[in-house]
Amino acid sequence: MASTLNWAQVQTRPVLMIPGPTELPWPVIQAMNQPPSIQYDRGFDEGVLEPTTLALREVFQTTGEVILMPGSGRTALEAGALSVIEPGDRVLVVGAGVFGVLMREIMGRVGAEMTEFPVEWGGRLDLDRLAREAERLQPKAITLVHNETSTGTTYPAAEVGKIARATGSLFLLDTVSSIAGIDVRTDEWGVDLNMTGSQKCLAAPLGLSLVSVSPRAWEAMDRRTTPARSYAYDLLRWRDQWMPVSRGGKVPDGTPRRQPVSIPTHLTEAMRVAVRLILEEGLEHRFRRHAVAAGALRAGAAAMGLEMFPDASIVSNTVSSIKAPKGIDTGAVVTTMRDRYGILIGTGLDKIRATTLRIGTMGITASPHYVLPALSALELALRDLGHKAEPGAGVAAAQAAFANAV
Ligand SMILES: Cc1ncc(COP(=O)(O)O)c(C=O)c1O
Repeated sequence: MASTLNWAQVQTRPVLMIPGPTELPWPVIQAMNQPPSIQYDRGFDEGVLEPTTLALREVFQTTGEVILMPGSGRTALEAGALSVIEPGDRVLVVGAGVFGVLMREIMGRVGAEMTEFPVEWGGRLDLDRLAREAERLQPKAITLVHNETSTGTTYPAAEVGKIARATGSLFLLDTVSSIAGIDVRTDEWGVDLNMTGSQKCLAAPLGLSLVSVSPRAWEAMDRRTTPARSYAYDLLRWRDQWMPVSRGGKVPDGTPRRQPVSIPTHLTEAMRVAVRLILEEGLEHRFRRHAVAAGALRAGAAAMGLEMFPDASIVSNTVSSIKAPKGIDTGAVVTTMRDRYGILIGTGLDKIRATTLRIGTMGITASPHYVLPALSALELALRDLGHKAEPGAGVAAAQAAFANAV
């Protein structure tokens, strides 16, 4: 019989185990608790914004410029696309899920002549075939979603970067659900625009959009025959109005500069602290923590008799896409977990909405502190909905995985 107790009632909010926005570290929340500062004041520029963007270079593993803008992941994708692509430019879009399709739509809006390279959802990317397609098309840019949040898969960005280099194409990478959770080597992989948002593994609040720009991408913008048709999100305006000459920009060093879009000060304060925490932890430790936490989550799911959606060789360490047991409604699992056990996970998206569940292990939620309760709530909810599994089996397997992690 389903339990009549409500364990969520005493909580004021559900714990966010969705694949973003994710839980925030307490110091990041505290950073926002202050009166407004003036975004164009030098104190904010030199004391907060500049150090944050410079520190973000370490997180992006780049020596290039990291630009912080108001917006979200989509803003970063659109700003990147509209800045380097002119109408009629050929673009090869790798589409392996909902966010590959999003890239296709954005490229359509900027007038690209687009070819999609479709990948079966949850399946591996055929690199040889992609290389042949790139060779045949000679596109101006190749786009890839590093971590496809809709299917819980991670694609080999380093290899796609090599293909882009071989054909002289720009490499545009969506790292919305990977940066700061999975290794992303912007410079080493030849990423020309690394586009992401604040609310996932960076563990900052939703509202900032981030793009790192390579020298090749700046050159492509310089070679445009027509200016980008966006005022706010044309990245060249950032170079002209914001970047100092010593970093390849147009603003004489030490002189005041302008923000091409007014920057949200509270969100930047929060980002400053989020980045500090990431660098204090160290990237290597952070990636290992995400790998172990996601591995434990997968071990727990397997012990409950649940299968992963993607091919085992490309499972993501930040988003786990788990097949729901046959006959169980995914929407009911999510609402039961939230309303009765106080933990929010997600269903799948689009054509796998009814058959898969998604659990994020991002930022601070990549830990036993969050993974074990999430598995416990999943087990209890599935049991309430009629799925038979040994109580505690998932939690025990995950606990063992944490215990054995080196
Ligand atoms: C891989 C990926 N790309 C793009 C987006 C869109 O980002 P946002 O919702 O921040 O606009 C998301 C959001 O989940 C995502 O996971």
